[in-house]
Amino acid sequence: MTVLCKLANGKKIWPPPIWLMRQAGRYLPEYNVVRNKAGSFLDLCYKPEYASEVTLQPIERFDLDAAIIFADILLIAQNVGIKLRFLEEIGPVLEKSLLDSPRLGKVAQVEGSKLMNIGDAINLTRARLSKEKSLIGFCGAPWTVMTYMINGGSKKDFSQAIKWMDDNSSLASDMIDILVELSASYLILQISAGADVVKIFDSWAGVLSKEKFDDWVIKPTSEIISKVKQVYPDTPVIAFPKGAHKLYEKYACETGLNIIAVDSELDRDFVKDILQKKAIVQGNVSPNLLLKGGAELKQDIEININKFRGKPFIVGLGHGILKETPPQHVQDLVNFVRSFS
Ligand code: CP3
Repeated sequence: MTVLCKLANGKKIWPPPIWLMRQAGRYLPEYNVVRNKAGSFLDLCYKPEYASEVTLQPIERFDLDAAIIFADILLIAQNVGIKLRFLEEIGPVLEKSLLDSPRLGKVAQVEGSKLMNIGDAINLTRARLSKEKSLIGFCGAPWTVMTYMINGGSKKDFSQAIKWMDDNSSLASDMIDILVELSASYLILQISAGADVVKIFDSWAGVLSKEKFDDWVIKPTSEIISKVKQVYPDTPVIAFPKGAHKLYEKYACETGLNIIAVDSELDRDFVKDILQKKAIVQGNVSPNLLLKGGAELKQDIEININKFRGKPFIVGLGHGILKETPPQHVQDLVNFVRSFS
């Protein structure tokens, strides 16, 4: 069993396991080398040899406890007929946004699609990764993926997406159902290829009211988890409703997750007193403090570990590593966590 599976099965692991969101990325010089060789960001995701290589880079450099397969939550949008590109300095651009073309054609499938390449990358990576390290597969949650499909890219303002969902409620719910199906089969594919943990990213869960959170976050996420568990009941599921504040509790209780990833804004006493009673917690060192490094970072890690150490937990960040982060700060984090007894 790999380390995260042992933890999910109730085994005490000390010092706590460590892995970080976006641990493979532009802050690592060796990533940029492979990224340039691959050509585009999408080529990097879809070429198993390259994807596997960058997935393993942070493990080789820092000896982290888990690798997360290199891909992107938006790849799935290509499966519903949306043209996707990643532009330098801008990020994702989804050309045929749902707003322009609200009638989507054929219902997509994972089988036979480009997403199969991610399965191949997982297969290669599992064979190269040492037995005790976990390999995490992932997908985006339907609501977060939909925000990009509606907005056509990254936007800080979600009012347009929420309005579109309200104005087109029947199409919106059909689209969520399609994404639930696709995401569940995609996670199942990843597990059958060798992922031993899967994660669902709901990066924009925090912008919704309680009622919409129930319909667009909790319901689809629990459907995905239950479909995955029907096939792979023992595979731990991590889920991340970023920014959900007090709704984290409902999410932890109702979705069927095993591990809850928490953002850096969430109050650590709430995490300890409420969430740690419901699930294994992963988090929540701030990516900004990781960027700064030094004494402030150490102090935050210390508070984090002392707060959560009573129950099994995973040291992680509240969100992804920022691209300006010096790799040495990640090494410092790992060394400091491993010095705890
Ligand atoms: O190491 C890992 O965490 C695995 C790989 C991974 C990526 N994206 C690679 C990536 C994972 C798990 C994701 C998830 C993802 N992608 C999320 C959910 C987590 C989160 O960050 O909230 C979201 C919202 C996306 C969508 C996305 N992908 C955006 C908005 C961007 C542009 C912003 C940016 O950082 O540039 C991406 C691009 C992206 N995905 C990069 C990486 C390493 C950077 C692009 C590059 O290297 O050229």
